[in-house]
Amino acid sequence: LAHLKSKVKSGLRQFPDFPSKGVLFEDIMPIFASHALHTTLIEALELQIAEAFQTQAGEKSEIDVIVGLESRGFLFGPALALRLGAGFVPVRKQGKLPGPCETVTYKKEYGEDVFQMQSDAFKSGQKVVIVDDIIATGPKIDSVDADFSVILGGTAAAAGQLVRKLGGTLLGFVFMMELDFLKGREKLDAPAYTLLSGQEESSGEGK
Ligand code: PRP
Ligand code: MG
Repeated sequence: LAHLKSKVKSGLRQFPDFPSKGVLFEDIMPIFASHALHTTLIEALELQIAEAFQTQAGEKSEIDVIVGLESRGFLFGPALALRLGAGFVPVRKQGKLPGPCETVTYKKEYGEDVFQMQSDAFKSGQKVVIVDDIIATGPKIDSVDADFSVILGGTAAAAGQLVRKLGGTLLGFVFMMELDFLKGREKLDAPAYTLLSGQEESSGEGK
């Protein structure tokens, strides 16, 4: 896995002051532009997931559904789901999904955003792993209101709340990369695993 990780890392590029001054942007797109790196990424994530969610008997735990977060979680969530024999379900920004939806408003460092999932996207009790490219500011689930409609924190925490609203069994989170991750890991309410650390290159918050 270490060898695969360093190959994946070679496909990252950093852009200072994007999308705003003081932010070092981690660009993952060169990985997907290269068939070799894309293949390596999916292999590495599959291995990471196998290691992460082993049962006590050392067997792979059955994952029913991979949940990917709009937009960048859509780049590799479906490929992983195929490899794992799982379904793929999207978390989308508000107003994109038809039919009954569950909704979570979450607060990021600047302003609010709204995530939705279709209410019948999976059955209650199904085992879910949430995937996204990056956990950046980290979630702070220290304020959840009575109907879970507003949480303070980042993207990943909001998706976790949505999965729970749908009755999913959240096995955990898998990210390609962590930024300022340690605080986030403590505050996520399910185990979190990350392929790469962006901390060496990053000063301040990256995306
Ligand atoms: C970025 C990134 C993560 C999120 C992490 O997504 O892809 O989803 O921010 O930030 P956080 O931990 O501070 O919440 P963004 O909302 O910028 O949009 P995109 O995926 O559509 O590019
Ligand atoms: Mg995103």
